Amino acid sequence: MAGDKIRVMIVDDIPETREQLRKLLSFDPDIEVVDMAGSGEEALERVLQARPHVILMDINLPGIDGIATTGKILEVLPVAQVIMLSVQGESGYMRKAMMAGARDYLTKPPSADELLDGIRRAYKTRQKMITGPLPQMVGGTTPVADGPRDQGKIITIFSPKGGTGCTTIAVNLAIALRNLIGANAKIALVDGNLQFGDITVFMKLQATRTLADLAPHAQEIDSDLLNSVMIPHASGVKVLSAPASPEEAGLFQDAEIEESGANSSFKTILNFVRREYDYVIVDTAHNVDSIFLAAMDVNDLMLILTRPVIPEIRGARLFLELLQKLNYPFDNVGLVINSVENKRMGIQPEAIERAMMPALVHIPLDERTALKAANYGVPLIMQNAKLPIGQALLKLAQTVRDQLKKVEAEAVAAQEDARQQVAGRGRLL
Ligand SMILES: Nc1ncnc2c1ncn2[C@@H]1O[C@H](COP(=O)(O)OP(=O)(O)OP(=O)(O)O)[C@@H](O)[C@H]1O
Ligand SMILES: [Mg+2]
Repeated sequence: MAGDKIRVMIVDDIPETREQLRKLLSFDPDIEVVDMAGSGEEALERVLQARPHVILMDINLPGIDGIATTGKILEVLPVAQVIMLSVQGESGYMRKAMMAGARDYLTKPPSADELLDGIRRAYKTRQKMITGPLPQMVGGTTPVADGPRDQGKIITIFSPKGGTGCTTIAVNLAIALRNLIGANAKIALVDGNLQFGDITVFMKLQATRTLADLAPHAQEIDSDLLNSVMIPHASGVKVLSAPASPEEAGLFQDAEIEESGANSSFKTILNFVRREYDYVIVDTAHNVDSIFLAAMDVNDLMLILTRPVIPEIRGARLFLELLQKLNYPFDNVGLVINSVENKRMGIQPEAIERAMMPALVHIPLDERTALKAANYGVPLIMQNAKLPIGQALLKLAQTVRDQLKKVEAEAVAAQEDARQQVAGRGRLL
């Protein structure tokens, strides 16, 4: 491991404990203690500068405790691995620590072996996170980003009814695409449900920076400004959060409304995000309003969601009819049927397809997995990729990627045809 030591930061309020841990680690030539902090506040102040790979975190700290400090650290340094140390061996503490994003949990005082093993394990996990697809997931591993950098693909997720699974699918599709394409892929997830968006809840992120910070500066947006509001998630996906409170969505109301009905600020932001990212997934509210029309103006693929229940199917059909009236190209539309339960005597997905169009995927009903993911803020594809629901979401990512590539190849071929026709005509003239 020459020249590439494991950088460890120690956070503990008792100076003797810090020193004991430092001494234990000083005997290992692969480990370097890069900083020691006596409180959560101190750790937060210095963590970006110290850039530790692994953090040993005391759970009981004066001021912000170890669990809250962990959550905050992972917002700014999402690949850091936190090992929580506590005198309490209680499962309640352990669960809280894990929910805050800690990787491991050791009871104080740890033996030298326990500590060194834990640090090495955490470091290995970190290396996997930054060099390849997430370890829990299955799928392809092509390490190249898709598409030219100046024109990422925008995928809008929409359902005319609430509670259909838009956010679940947006979050998991973003992560599955990243897994499929590899660590080089730049994936943005934009919460276009401006009033009640909850992507940050589904991903256990703090909405410290949001679309409300961008709205007044949409027309002057540049890379630095965009970067400053994108929130990194441990999966590698970056999130552009909805405003933290419903009234802040009003900041978009002052924007010019284009002839298509699109909100010009939101559209400018989306167009800029696609310049910086390979794929941009946009979650939406359930209305055809100026925000949705902005996404519709720029998107490459729109996924319409329905569950096999009559009011939702009716809503999706009405929406398809609206698209027809607007002469919207159906090549850019995909149907996703969520919460399919084969055992129940409900409406069969095939009947929905006959009434509308073939679906890209049927996502099975799995209340336990979906609810657990929503309540814990851990996207199900990160823990349950092997279950049928996870497999269906991976299939969706693969299908979406294939379809976008096909549409792009056809557009390139059509352009080439047109170019050759013009060149041929030139020769005849
Ligand atoms: N395939 C599924 N099986 C079981 N439950 C699911 C499935 N997909 C989503 N859910 C659950 O349904 C609920 C609503 O999902 P979600 O929030 O993703 O929908 P939404 O359309 O974004 O809703 P909202 O109207 O709040 O924007 C969540 O509790 C989620 O865990
Ligand atoms: Mg939602």
